[in-house]
This record gives sequence, structure tokens and C-alpha cells, in this order.
Amino acid sequence: MANDTVVVVGATQGLGRELAQAYAHDGREVVVTGREQSRADRAAGEIGGRTRGIGFDLAQPHAIADRLAEVDAVQYLVLAAIERDVNKVSEYDVDAALRLVTLKLVGYTEVIHTLSPRMVDDSAILIFGGLARDRPYPGSTTVTTVNGGVTGLVRTLVVELAPTRVNCLHPAIVGDSPQWVDMPEERRDALVQRTPIGRLVTMAEVVDASRFLLENRALNGINLPVDGGWLCM
Ligand SMILES: NC(=O)c1ccc[n+]([C@@H]2O[C@H](COP(=O)([O-])OP(=O)(O)OC[C@H]3O[C@@H](n4cnc5c(N)ncnc54)[C@H](OP(=O)(O)O)[C@@H]3O)[C@@H](O)[C@H]2O)c1
Repeated sequence: MANDTVVVVGATQGLGRELAQAYAHDGREVVVTGREQSRADRAAGEIGGRTRGIGFDLAQPHAIADRLAEVDAVQYLVLAAIERDVNKVSEYDVDAALRLVTLKLVGYTEVIHTLSPRMVDDSAILIFGGLARDRPYPGSTTVTTVNGGVTGLVRTLVVELAPTRVNCLHPAIVGDSPQWVDMPEERRDALVQRTPIGRLVTMAEVVDASRFLLENRALNGINLPVDGGWLCM
């Protein structure tokens, strides 16, 4: 495997896939992952170029190292996977909370543990958080908690993995992402009212910000909101 490899965990659809597509378009070797091998293979085939798929479940962290055994040198590692969760404290679902915390904090960290010895010179890691870190909503208890946890994870990884750079991106609602593209117009209008730029951020803007964090060699330990100024409102 060449030294230009980009691994995107959670890239069968959504923001991870858009970023994987951009790097495949540049001619890089790209590894895309999802829970199932067949879906990861299909996404890799659709993305094209030097892209291949690997299936593993981040909520089963003991199995991750074996699944990544054939990934060799890595330049950029992106952790974008998520399972959406609505879990109010008043109706607390312990199993759902354990799954999301495991996926996002333990699973992400196990991927990094497995691949960090294979990171080449000028390598960087990008972790996806989200605006729910700072803008909670009813039912976001676990999501807000893990996104806060990601902030701490970035800080410790910068120290432990130096000179590999580690950054995090916290998108607001991405209007054209698969999760939100079909939301009712009234809901979209209400959300737009809360954004200083008068619209929701786009997948292309998140990809651009992701590439900035991965490729600019001065950026390290950053938690970057990509929200059009939502946090100022
Ligand atoms: N979209 C937004 O508006 C938005 C806003 C704020 C933050 N974010 C953050 O941005 C990141 C990407 O979001 P997105 O909306 O693009 O996600 P998405 O469209 O829901 O895609 C999630 C990806 O994660 C994979 N995945 C889910 N559960 C997994 C598991 N247990 N193990 C391994 N892979 C798993 C999925 O693959 P399979 O289904 O094939 O398993 C899929 O490729 C997430 O961290 C999310 O929290 C997004």
C-alpha cells in the first residue's frame, strides 16, 4: 500500500463518504468502513479509484484490530461513524447509552490504537463531534456527552501520538446530508432562523473544513465548529 492512504471510518454514506470521495478523486488510496462488509464493498465500488471497503462494528471494539490487519501505512485517519440516539434521562435506556459511548469513545480509540503505529510522516487524525456538544436538545444526553468526550480525547491524543496531528470538527445540522435532506420544510425554516448565515451548512463545506484540518500542518488540537455562526446566536 502507498503512503498516501486515507482511512475513513463511517464512510458508506454521509459526510464520511463525501470526504472519502474527495480523496479518491485526488487519486489517493482510500479505505471506507461501515458495519457490514457488503455495504462497505458497495460504497467502495461506487466511489471508485483506489478505494476498498472493510466492515466492522465500532460497538464491538475487541474485533476491530483483526478487521484492520490488512491496512498498512496510513496518512490520514478520519472517524466519522455515528448511530443516532435519542435517550432522555427521564426514560434512560442503559443499553442504548452503552452502545453509543462504546462506539464513539472506545471504538474510535481502538481504531486509533490499532492504526497509530502505521501512521506515516505528516500524518493526521480527524474526529467528528457535533454541535450537540454545546447545543443540547431533549434526548441528546448521550450524544452531548460523547461529543464532549471527543474534545478531551483530542487533547490527550495530541500529547500521546505526537508528532501525528489530531483535530476535531463539530458540524451543525448539515442541510444536504442524508440525515437531514428530507426534513419537513417547516422544520428546516425554523432551523435556518437560528443561523446567522441564513441557511444550513453543506456537505461540501464540511469536506472543505475537514481537508483544512487534515492537511494544514500547523493545525493540532483544534475543536472546530462548522456551523455558520450558530453558536453566536
Ligand atoms: N449530518 C449532520 O448534520 C451532522 C451534524 C452534526 C454532527 N455530525 C457528525 O458527523 C459524522 C457523520 O455524520 P453523518 O450524518 O454523515 O452520518 P450518517 O450519514 O448517519 O453515516 C454514518 C456512518 O457511520 C457508519 N456506522 C454507523 N454505526 C456504525 C458502527 N456501529 N460501527 C461502524 N460504523 C458505523 C455507517 O455505516 P453503515 O450504516 O454502513 O454501518 C455510516 O457510514 C457523525 O459523527 C455525526 O455525529 C453530523
